[in-house]
Amino acid sequence: MSVSYKELGLVNTRNMFAKAIKGGYAVPAYNFNNLEQLQAIIQASVETNSPVILQISKGARQYANATILRYMAMGAVGYAKELGKAIPITLHLDHGDSYELCVNCIESGFSSIMIDGSHLSFADNIILTKKVVDYAHKYDVSVEGELGVLAGIEDEVSSEHSHYTDPSEVQEFVKQTSVDSLAISIGTSHGAYKFKVKPGESVPPLRFDILTEVEKCLPGFPIVLHGASSVLPEYVSLINKYGGAMENAVGVPEEQLRKAAKSAVCKINVDSDGRLAFTAKVREYLAKDAEEFDPRKYLGFARSELVKMYKAKNENVMGSAGHGV
Ligand code: G3H
Ligand code: 13P
Ligand code: ZN
Repeated sequence: MSVSYKELGLVNTRNMFAKAIKGGYAVPAYNFNNLEQLQAIIQASVETNSPVILQISKGARQYANATILRYMAMGAVGYAKELGKAIPITLHLDHGDSYELCVNCIESGFSSIMIDGSHLSFADNIILTKKVVDYAHKYDVSVEGELGVLAGIEDEVSSEHSHYTDPSEVQEFVKQTSVDSLAISIGTSHGAYKFKVKPGESVPPLRFDILTEVEKCLPGFPIVLHGASSVLPEYVSLINKYGGAMENAVGVPEEQLRKAAKSAVCKINVDSDGRLAFTAKVREYLAKDAEEFDPRKYLGFARSELVKMYKAKNENVMGSAGHGV
């Protein structure tokens, strides 16, 4: 049975992005896979009065089940109201890898989708993205495309090496496809090991020169930054302290993300930081209380930490706090 996102109380990203560009902030796009992550994202967004994009990868959708997910999204809208603020909430497909998957998500209540043709040739990326846009726009669903390749694992699309977005291609891509936003590659990558640096060395800065060029070619157009977790050292340390093994995990410094959020970047994707905080706190709880076997105890403990982390991101990194309703 097909359902429109409008019936679920969700919104597409168009208005969100227009406001974010004017206001000099980015809308947070947080990936989730389970109930506790979703609860934390909504609570943090309500408490900071921030718009939010709930992001689901193909793998997350398989994990959670598409039908359950539809009701979780509807539940998220209701939960935000119950907490006191009807903030704008988008349900977005992250790294859609086929036309069929995008159609299926739109039919099951997604209000925004990404079609990731970044691994294809420029011409084939345009053909696939345009086909998805033509379908999505009939249902008022917004579409994110991607140009340039991020290193790391993008769901089933895996790439060992990145290549930066070529600013000379962006205008043509947007014109030919009519996408609503564009993800670009300026030095970020997916996962918890973003840069190879020795202890004490600082990470290489993002390629703001490319971002500036892209902005010149597409004035006022919404740009998206993937691979934007900061891989917060406190969580990596906790993981390692309580039995984990995550040596050399490193992410994008928060100041660089804040700088990007003030530009045309109006959507910033964060997945790994949520995974790290959650894992760190579950490990800590179980290490300290070997007798506990009620999942509500250790998952609830991890959920509280997530709320804290997402609130801090909305306030200090995205700049989206206060821009909800
Ligand atoms: O960009 C990729 C996201 O972090 C999703 O990861 O495919 O493991 O759910 P996943
Ligand atoms: P991180 O792995 O840096 O959290 O990136 C997530 C992402 O880009 C999801 O699309
Ligand atoms: Zn991504």
